[in-house]
Amino acid sequence: MTARRPLIAGNWKMHKTCTEAEDTARELIEKVSDVSDVDIMIAPPATALAPVFRIIRDTPVELGGQNLFWEKQGAYTGEVSGPMLVSAGCRYVIIGHSERRQYFGETDENVNKKIKAAKDAGLIPVICVGESESERDAENTFSVLDKQMENGLKDLSADLFDGSVIAYEPVWAIGTGRTATPQQAQEVHSWLRNFLKKRFGQSSADRTRIVYGGSVKPENISELMALGDIDGALVGGASLKPDTFGNIIKYKR
Ligand code: 13P
Repeated sequence: MTARRPLIAGNWKMHKTCTEAEDTARELIEKVSDVSDVDIMIAPPATALAPVFRIIRDTPVELGGQNLFWEKQGAYTGEVSGPMLVSAGCRYVIIGHSERRQYFGETDENVNKKIKAAKDAGLIPVICVGESESERDAENTFSVLDKQMENGLKDLSADLFDGSVIAYEPVWAIGTGRTATPQQAQEVHSWLRNFLKKRFGQSSADRTRIVYGGSVKPENISELMALGDIDGALVGGASLKPDTFGNIIKYKR
């Protein structure tokens, strides 16, 4: 198995004005200045990307967008493209978050186009998948994930997919305080890696980082990270406070 460098990412969702985002970024870089063994990413709202980048450039903290549109430019009011995210300093972009699927009608087909657009722009896609509570209760978790992965990654070659990150975020664990148990998370992560192996081959599956999201906090990060197929975390609420997020990044190895 190839060693995968962990990724700890903070999704700030629709939180923080520019000034608040800058202050948070400043405190975070101070808190994690001595961390060198994990990749760190923060995804502020679009308005704060460029201001935050001015603070984190030349530090180990990297920038991500929370979404992108698949066209490069044009008459698409309100949308932001891959090249625009790159110009604001982004290295990553979150794609297909369950909140985008739930509130903005994003489909697997949209996700597929967005992954291709992100790769085309040179961004690292963080592709979110996950089942709802009713889907889990009905024992449909793996059929739901299979559909999201199959359609989301449609027509992607192993070369094009390479470097992408998969984020498993069970919808019932997002913002609820209910984390998946380490066993539940590991079971899904190992299933996802096996999916990638069948789809793209063993070495691609071994290289791909599969991160977990859903009520990650300083108290549960270490036990999640200790599992073989969990390569990091996508953190929502607990990433808004630099001290708390810093403690997640500095989880006990
Ligand atoms: P919480 O950490 O607030 O549960 O959010 C998870 C998430 O949706 C990250 O993208």
